[in-house]
Amino acid sequence: MLTNAYYYFKSLLGSSVAEQAAVNRWVVSSNLTRGAIIFLYKHKIIEFKNTPYILENSIANWYYADMAFTIPRGTQDILPEDISKWHLIEETARNLFSAYNFSEIRTPIFENTDVFARGMGEKSELFNKEMYTFQDKGGRSLTLRPEGTAAVTRANIMHTLHKKMHPLKLYYIGPFFRYERPQAGRFRQFHQIGAEYIGESSPYADAEVIALAYHLFESLGITDLKVQINSVGCNVARPVIEEMVKQFLSNNLTHLPTHIQEKFNDNPLRILDSKDPDVHAYIAGMPDIKDALTQESKDHFFSVLQHLDEMNIPYQVSNVLVRGLEYYTETVFEIISDHLGAQSTVCGGGRYNNLTKELGGPDMPAFGFGFGIERTVMLLDHINKTLSKSIDIYFIPLDTLSRDMLFYVMNRLRGNNISAEIGYSDQLKGQLKKANKLNAKRVVIVGEEERQSKQAQYKDMVNRSQTIVPIDQLIDVILNDFAVNELPSH
Ligand code: HAM
Repeated sequence: MLTNAYYYFKSLLGSSVAEQAAVNRWVVSSNLTRGAIIFLYKHKIIEFKNTPYILENSIANWYYADMAFTIPRGTQDILPEDISKWHLIEETARNLFSAYNFSEIRTPIFENTDVFARGMGEKSELFNKEMYTFQDKGGRSLTLRPEGTAAVTRANIMHTLHKKMHPLKLYYIGPFFRYERPQAGRFRQFHQIGAEYIGESSPYADAEVIALAYHLFESLGITDLKVQINSVGCNVARPVIEEMVKQFLSNNLTHLPTHIQEKFNDNPLRILDSKDPDVHAYIAGMPDIKDALTQESKDHFFSVLQHLDEMNIPYQVSNVLVRGLEYYTETVFEIISDHLGAQSTVCGGGRYNNLTKELGGPDMPAFGFGFGIERTVMLLDHINKTLSKSIDIYFIPLDTLSRDMLFYVMNRLRGNNISAEIGYSDQLKGQLKKANKLNAKRVVIVGEEERQSKQAQYKDMVNRSQTIVPIDQLIDVILNDFAVNELPSH
């Protein structure tokens, strides 16, 4: 079926014969209307992995052209209907951070690019391919923060926080930016909650922070998770481990995909945690990298495991877990779920004993983690966690004079932290429907009759009962009701 869409689609492309031919082939063979193509694209039912890039881009433009204003690829609006899950995650995290004696830090959304170049390592994929880097009007190179550890370390050095607080236990919540190919659970603007325990080298610190991460998910009711843990050793062991990986893979190198071969010289450790099943087959028989660790690193690692055992934190030792950022030393860990699709890691972290010195500060060990809020929301959805929002009181005035009076009462109650809403139509039925939709715990009804008898109808929507309350005592009765019953807040 050739629709108008076909001509519209063609007009979006350049005039090269190859492009036109590609469009012709695709639109004709797909036999879809424009609306259908937009629908499939919008709902990510069709991706364009095997189509020429220009085609993919044109369909994206086409989709966006269909909407008046939209948001950049890889970003999303978090709508009121979803926000309660975000609040739950953030509040749970804040409560646990307080129990573990962590304090919040807020660093800028953008930093000087050097912070991340030095911090994450210039060889890392994140630094090379995924940063949002730009020049400001003064010609400075700035980068939207792709992660929090380097920024927090920069802030510690700059304000000598370690001298003011010891131990230095910091947490952060906020947006981060990575230019990655968007897919389920992977965004270009995403949100992380992270923790950094700076200035402590004890294996207890590693175990404490891993336990904190685990408890966080547990408190949210997410338990179907695996904690994977490994050690990448200290600086002394790193070249030995790299050589070990290279030696093992050298015979089979040509059989590995090109993007993996590219890592061989610069960053051979990254080959180990490739998600590509073909690569898994080649690294399956590799000797454990922990054989190359110094005795001190081995002792540290086994103490961490012992402390995790003592706290009943379940874990699996993974010999191929190395993590993507170059600052890691010694213990590394990830928390993964089978319910996240290809992006199975919800939380990742580890020790980074050299980073503070690397960024110009003193020699200072540290351990931390970061977890993605979007992926945690996906896990809450998976366990069908429903969080219904409610309000304390809904006022139903049935005429203007009653509205004036209830408006005053409502404002007094709001000032006492009671959440309240008022209806602006005089229709009882419609307003009761609204009260139900808002999950109101109580409803107050006042019309001409009630004003004359000076008695308001007071409905308990939770227990489905009703009483009469003298209008001049309405505020006190409601305040007392909520104080006595300690109704859960919305
Ligand atoms: P990371 O493994 O790069 O570590 O990120 C941590 C978590 O952030 C991931 O497990 C994932 O849940 C989430 N995340 C990362 N990228 C995306 C994305 N594009 N879309 C959605 N979610 C994403 C770090 O960032 C380290 N700074 C963690 C750390 C703190 N290590 C020591 N201290």
